[in-house]
Amino acid sequence: MKYALIGCGMISPNHIKAALANDLEIVALCDLVEENRNKALELIPEGKRSIVTLYGDHKEMLEKEKPELVAIALGSGLKRRLSVDCMEAGANVIVEKPIALSLEDADVMIKTAEECGVKLIVNHQLRFGNTVRALKEEAQAGEFGKLLHGTVQVRRNRNKAYFDAGKWRGTWANDGGTLMNQCIHYTDLLQWVMGSDVDEVFAYTDRMTHPYIEAEDLGLAVLKFKNGAYATIEGTVNTYPKNLSDSMAVFGETGTVSLRGKTLDDVEAWSFEEGPQNRDQAIEQFAIENMGTGHAPLYKYAIGVINGKADNLCPATDSRKALELILAIYKSAAEGRPVKLPLTGVSTTDFEGRFN
Ligand SMILES: NC(=O)c1ccc[n+]([C@@H]2O[C@H](COP(=O)([O-])OP(=O)(O)OC[C@H]3O[C@@H](n4cnc5c(N)ncnc54)[C@H](O)[C@@H]3O)[C@@H](O)[C@H]2O)c1
Repeated sequence: MKYALIGCGMISPNHIKAALANDLEIVALCDLVEENRNKALELIPEGKRSIVTLYGDHKEMLEKEKPELVAIALGSGLKRRLSVDCMEAGANVIVEKPIALSLEDADVMIKTAEECGVKLIVNHQLRFGNTVRALKEEAQAGEFGKLLHGTVQVRRNRNKAYFDAGKWRGTWANDGGTLMNQCIHYTDLLQWVMGSDVDEVFAYTDRMTHPYIEAEDLGLAVLKFKNGAYATIEGTVNTYPKNLSDSMAVFGETGTVSLRGKTLDDVEAWSFEEGPQNRDQAIEQFAIENMGTGHAPLYKYAIGVINGKADNLCPATDSRKALELILAIYKSAAEGRPVKLPLTGVSTTDFEGRFN
């Protein structure tokens, strides 16, 4: 499958490694900055470089290379325009999370994929780790009994150098704050594992130690799901002096799971009244040989979906829900009151000036 990458910045090595692990034919790397595309090229083994062309303009790349799959790893404000261009050129798209920064943009992207007959897959790679897959399986099989509550904690450190490295970072128009950037993987997982849409959210957000960004560096939210369960979300980039482990826990009447680590592979608790007692076996069944966790299994799955050989485990409509939940949190914090979902017409830009 002919593959191209647009955006050769910080996360691009993960995409290139995933494309190589899945034997995609990398035909193009595209970035506005020559140095960045050159650096990305160096990650491709010499024997595979001769078929790779470097581009500064994505439209020229689409026209000349006609890739079947394009990965988009850009600041979030650009995703609608570039993914629509790719899909209208006939390419399937893997776009980095979040899907977009407004519900309208997400809707346009989802509709364009349908109209063009291509797949749009958002890079929520944590869904494809074997431990998280096993957790989802236990929840889906009803092993938790009545679901009571879930928790996620994302305690990161992001300093000035991180924000200076990309002008889009921390802005309302192109990124949002820590909830939209670092935490969205977990708002996606919460809704996926709890198996229910969110009914209502109440939240506080603040910008406490990063006066040079526009959006929040701390977000604290309490949610109620339509199925009656609750959840809390804690997201920060203020952790001194460095990242702590991410964590997620699910509590049910007859089950408890608590996971930690960058890909939630460190199991603190895995207890069920009934059902598979062999935790390792439950988790191992989802391991993909030679793929590890992260972008590579997501790519494997995406290729399967494009070829009609895999179930759609991460539909773009779910990615829209992850976005909608963060926007609801922003709205609740800005208005100082609980907010009901679903929302229409909300965008990160509605919160411009919030911390000025
Ligand atoms: N899945 C994950 O765990 C994960 C981790 C980090 C970042 N991300 C996401 O990946 C995306 C990119 O993040 P990053 O940290 O790599 O950003 P970055 O700023 O390091 O890289 C973006 C690159 O895009 C290039 N670019 C900008 N406009 C362009 C255009 N019109 N055409 C071609 N190239 C263009 C820039 O020159 C830059 O090299 C963001 O959406 C971010 O949220 C995801």
